[in-house]
Amino acid sequence: MKYYVTTAIDYPNAAPHIGHSYEKIAADTIARYHRLRGDDTFFCMGVDENSQHVPRAADANRAGVIEWVDRMAAAFQGTWAALDVRPDRFIRTAIDTDHARASQELFRRAQAGGDIYKGTYTGYYCHNCNTFYEQGDLTDGKACPNHPTIAPEYLEEENYFFALSRYTDRLIDLLDANPDFIMPRVWGAEIRALLQRGLRDFSVSRPVKSARVVDGKPWGIPVPGDPEHVLYVWFDALTNYATAAGLPDDANRFADWWPADAHVVGKDITRFHCVYWPAMLMAAGLEVPRQVAVHGFMTLEGQRISKTTGNIIDPVELVDEWGADAVRYYLLRDVAFDRDGDFVRANLAQRYVSDLANDLGNLLNRAVSMIGRYRDGVVPTATAPEAPTDAELRTVAEAAVAGTTDCLEAWDFDGALDASWSLVRRANQYVDENQPWKLARDPDADGRLSVVLGTVAEALRLLSTLLAPVMPTACAKMRDQLGLPMAAGGDWLDLTWGRFPPGTKVGAPVPVFPRKDLTDPAR
Ligand code: MSP
Repeated sequence: MKYYVTTAIDYPNAAPHIGHSYEKIAADTIARYHRLRGDDTFFCMGVDENSQHVPRAADANRAGVIEWVDRMAAAFQGTWAALDVRPDRFIRTAIDTDHARASQELFRRAQAGGDIYKGTYTGYYCHNCNTFYEQGDLTDGKACPNHPTIAPEYLEEENYFFALSRYTDRLIDLLDANPDFIMPRVWGAEIRALLQRGLRDFSVSRPVKSARVVDGKPWGIPVPGDPEHVLYVWFDALTNYATAAGLPDDANRFADWWPADAHVVGKDITRFHCVYWPAMLMAAGLEVPRQVAVHGFMTLEGQRISKTTGNIIDPVELVDEWGADAVRYYLLRDVAFDRDGDFVRANLAQRYVSDLANDLGNLLNRAVSMIGRYRDGVVPTATAPEAPTDAELRTVAEAAVAGTTDCLEAWDFDGALDASWSLVRRANQYVDENQPWKLARDPDADGRLSVVLGTVAEALRLLSTLLAPVMPTACAKMRDQLGLPMAAGGDWLDLTWGRFPPGTKVGAPVPVFPRKDLTDPAR
């Protein structure tokens, strides 16, 4: 099976923050989950450079525009790499020439189909979210609903329009036929209401005179056949998903990879992804994506994340302090995908100590140490008849496997981690109840000791795969200590109980989540 997943492409007007990071970590987790299942997976991310507020950010930072976008692209890619987020392609919409060709191709196709016409736009425009607003949309008649400190500009300009209104019925049909088109389903109601109110056509170009000139050319992608206009930035930005699939240069690749399986985006941009984008594709005679996965918005310690108020945390700093696995785990465990959530530094510390160092880390450490000490490092294969407690751990493990996979399929990351943690917790209790250190002192309990150690090792083997999409580096370390090869494609299928390879030798026990001194006043 093929699986193509994308994230929103971020505006490089400022460095990435923890809210952007949540989305990228969620999408990366899903990409890794599909790779583990053996799917041929393609994961695309990028930066949305053609917005006019990007050159303005360069000015504010006293940088040349190209110098700025290069610097920002490196900052975004560096942050994603630090968080262990590994896209197969990273699109730069102002730099990658295949992207300009794809955007123009889509425009031409819609135009050829009669869905693009020239008109005059009068209304408001927010330069930060690049959204056209009517007076009634503005907060207190003045402020952008997404950017409370910004007053959108009143515009009266000639541009090209896309005949979105023609697509209302087809979009309603799309939702009716695909109840999982918008996931989690809670977000679908808002889009349905929007469609039922009826759609207005939207502008798909901006006049060149409103575009910043960079190296003698207007910033933005030229409208094909009309040098007086550049494409509306959302028109080109949305097209990035098709660019990465091969439009228009590589028809074979496009046939293989389009439509995308999932676009992962925040709740503020559902309208663009669930209404504009499918309609643009329909107009171009292309298939619509299979799913749009929508996440909530994050605040930081209860406040809106905002560069102007200085309320930001650099995700790289968090990684330096806690490691990428812990940051990924905390965000996906504590911030439910289908709701807004708050980043609380103390809760990250708490999760690190109790869930990662104490529960999971300790389980691994105890098992690997005891197998080393009592069995010369060879993982025992359970031979003695199973006691009820062994059977119970196996039942819990099987439920954890089913629960984790079902939840990942439904974009329910905290549910997936909860399901996996029921096994972590039960396995620790199992060790406490069976007290292998006592069994080791009783010559008659040798067979029982093997069963107990073999059973715990098996639980850890399953966990090292189940948790790998969320915590790839920690799970690689776990597998290394358990003497297991890396979980490559297809290993996911080996989530059947009792498949620990006979004769496996464990490595040295090294804490995967080292303890930290949380009383340090600098923290
Ligand atoms: N450039 C557009 C997206 C174009 S996609 C074809 C854009 N950029 S953005 O930088 O403003 O946002 C990028 C993504 O980050 C969006 O999905 C947005 O919802 C998400 N987030 C931005 N701030 C966020 C939070 N505070 N919390 C969670 N996600 C947030 O929109």
